[in-house]
Amino acid sequence: MVPVEKSFVQNMFSVEGKVALVTGATGALGCVLAKAYGYAGAKVFMTGRNDKKLKALEDEFKAEGIDCGYFVADPAKEEDVDALIKACVAKYGEINILAVAHGFNKPQNVLEQSVADWQYIMDADCKSVYIVTKYVAHQMVAQGKGGKMVVVTSQRSKRGMAGYTGYCTSKGGADLMVSCLACDLTAKYGINVNSICPTVFRSDLTEWMFDPDSAVYKNFLNREPIGRLGEPADFVGYALFLSSAASDFITGSNADCSGGYLVV
Ligand SMILES: NC(=O)c1ccc[n+]([C@@H]2O[C@H](COP(=O)([O-])OP(=O)(O)OC[C@H]3O[C@@H](n4cnc5c(N)ncnc54)[C@H](OP(=O)(O)O)[C@@H]3O)[C@@H](O)[C@H]2O)c1
Repeated sequence: MVPVEKSFVQNMFSVEGKVALVTGATGALGCVLAKAYGYAGAKVFMTGRNDKKLKALEDEFKAEGIDCGYFVADPAKEEDVDALIKACVAKYGEINILAVAHGFNKPQNVLEQSVADWQYIMDADCKSVYIVTKYVAHQMVAQGKGGKMVVVTSQRSKRGMAGYTGYCTSKGGADLMVSCLACDLTAKYGINVNSICPTVFRSDLTEWMFDPDSAVYKNFLNREPIGRLGEPADFVGYALFLSSAASDFITGSNADCSGGYLVV
């Protein structure tokens, strides 16, 4: 029988003392994940393009005793990401966890969408994931201690939708990228790479869908066995699990995190 160590079980969900880099930290989910890593005892390094919002988050988190910092960067720009990794390592010495929570969409029918608009979504949601994970992978390999990467994609990575040729394609690409990264990085370097695929959760952009009397909301509930739409906090458990030793045998997966959207 394979033994299970008591101390492993008692600590397997811990990210205490780890350094967690969070992209899209200014967003609805990114800021919740960043704070959750902090509450769980990790050192949190946040990034996004909005200096003012990042500074406000840093102030808020520090007031709660969270050890954190930030660096302004566009995840789709290689030079920005290079500088971001250096800034995080200069502050904390290493990176153990990467959470990718930035993203963008501008729904448009393909007949009205310019190639430039499509490319912008692809850069924001797919090319940026490649650049960020690649640069963090180099850093984690150099550290020689493995690591954990969690990429937030979408249930739209698996199915099409009108006006979503950019978003679905980029999220689908990111999900498959995660599986390829696992093949490159897990066995040899101990770096687990997984994505979580939410359905709709509350953000500035989706708030309008949460009116319980609206047809949109009622329609969604027909596809949500859980009986409600998501909140950013609903994804904290999965992100912490995929960032901790409890998920050491999980890599390359595109995790359903949808309230049962797939089963109906
Ligand atoms: N909300 C949902 O219902 C839902 C459902 C499924 C999947 N998702 C995915 O979950 C992730 C987080 O979503 P969210 O609702 O928290 O998003 P959000 O509130 O809109 O925030 C996303 C963050 O991404 C950054 N961002 C925006 N445009 C960008 C661009 N062109 N290039 C790089 N970064 C950009 C922004 O930060 P800065 O301006 O500071 O850079 C923003 O704060 C995204 O990947 C999203 O696609 C969301």
